[in-house]
Amino acid sequence: MPKVTFIHKDGSRQTVEFEHGKMPYDGHGLPESFLDVAMNFGIHLEHACGGSCACTTCHLIIKEGMNNLSDMEDNEADRLDTAWELTTTSRLGCQAVIKGDVVAQFPMYTRNYVQEGGGIQLGQPEKTEKDEKPAGVLP
Ligand code: FES
Repeated sequence: MPKVTFIHKDGSRQTVEFEHGKMPYDGHGLPESFLDVAMNFGIHLEHACGGSCACTTCHLIIKEGMNNLSDMEDNEADRLDTAWELTTTSRLGCQAVIKGDVVAQFPMYTRNYVQEGGGIQLGQPEKTEKDEKPAGVLP
């Protein structure tokens, strides 16, 4: 049973254990990834893209047990390049699958374009009265 320790931003630690193949899976991130474990144990790990490797809000810094994680795929490496506070032991919580004991620290900051109104746009913006009139046309 892998032990997973999360080190929160305030330095507090939370350790949980799970049995391979026994945790319910609700489709967030890869099965038995940090995100999957966090969601099963009620630990808040941001995941603005739902765990589909399209943001960096699930960024974690691995402190111990790097060899107990799945290998990093190219799409994770490409996405991680845009993470705030990137380190040589950074992983995306939704992509790193846990195979043994690990200790992971939440970074101080993450980029969440959804909350910041940046690069990710979900759905169509609502039209305003201003959008209806072409620029320079007087009422
Ligand atoms: Fe978006 Fe992991 S939740 S990349």
